[in-house]
Amino acid sequence: MKYLIFGANGQLGQVLCRQLQSVADVCGLHSAQFNIVDNAKVFQAAQTFMPDVIINAAAYTAVDKAECERDLCFQVNISGAENIAKAAQQVGAKIIHFSSDYVFDGRQREPYTETSPTAPLNVYGQSKLLSEQAVSQACSRHFIVRTSWLFGATGHNFVKSILRHAQQTSTLRVVTDQIGSPTWVNDLANIVIALANSNENAVDYGIYHFSGSPAMSWYDFAQTIINEATSLKWLPEKPKILPILSADYPSAAVRPAYSVLANHKIQAALKHTPCDWRKGLREMLRENIK
Ligand SMILES: NC(=O)c1ccc[n+]([C@@H]2O[C@H](COP(=O)([O-])OP(=O)(O)OC[C@H]3O[C@@H](n4cnc5c(N)ncnc54)[C@H](OP(=O)(O)O)[C@@H]3O)[C@@H](O)[C@H]2O)c1
Repeated sequence: MKYLIFGANGQLGQVLCRQLQSVADVCGLHSAQFNIVDNAKVFQAAQTFMPDVIINAAAYTAVDKAECERDLCFQVNISGAENIAKAAQQVGAKIIHFSSDYVFDGRQREPYTETSPTAPLNVYGQSKLLSEQAVSQACSRHFIVRTSWLFGATGHNFVKSILRHAQQTSTLRVVTDQIGSPTWVNDLANIVIALANSNENAVDYGIYHFSGSPAMSWYDFAQTIINEATSLKWLPEKPKILPILSADYPSAAVRPAYSVLANHKIQAALKHTPCDWRKGLREMLRENIK
């Protein structure tokens, strides 16, 4: 199986390349070599490599900055994704693309399914929703995976920023009125590989939700990180974590108060059980300690 991966240097892209390299023929392209907005180059890459599967792990992911860089965010997340999907269609490849829990407005109080109404509150969420439409229209063999609160050993994420702050200060302030599902990037990579290898007669193309379990607030997520890091002696002392409200922590982008994703569809399609992200957190901290 041949995989062409855009965004190979991102948090998810790196793990995908690492997990696939020993079992498949992988071509990973990162932003320094390659701008996905460049239509001609995207087509050329697809035609040169002739992949079975194209994975678009490239994206503009700076949620707050997107509020004042709307054009750039839309170019990368919508036009870039569309270029990749068109190239996949042209070479007869499947595409796997990623979207976000931020396509929802957070007013619901039960997990969002793939058919729940979308209503993004911020520019990044709008761009991801429009990317879904662009990809599904451009390539018939598409999997669009909506995920949330990704963390892993590389890149920027909440776990790393909590650990960094915990080393620098004795008191952290973390919002308690936003609920979502942390997702370990390695679990997501396994799901992506399972989708890529799935049989067309058994697993339908379309949108799937995948996130880790259990759901909780950023505050509880931070508590879990600190407890785990302290028990593994990663942190010498436990900092104090103060619960605050989103209103006390002004940010450029409005975020949904509740963005838990229901995972039933993907669990049924791939016959897998929920992924407990706390196991991933432990593994990530153990690896980092070495
Ligand atoms: N992180 C989350 O919590 C989260 C939540 C929900 C959904 N998602 C989605 O999951 C996917 C993977 O996210 P991630 O956390 O792995 O993102 P990430 O770490 O920010 O990686 C994205 C990669 O895309 C590259 N990129 C940006 N613009 C590009 C361009 N014009 N051409 C080529 N490459 C470009 C970036 O390169 P540079 O490093 O050079 O900028 C970066 O390596 C994305 O679609 C994201 O929207 C993420």
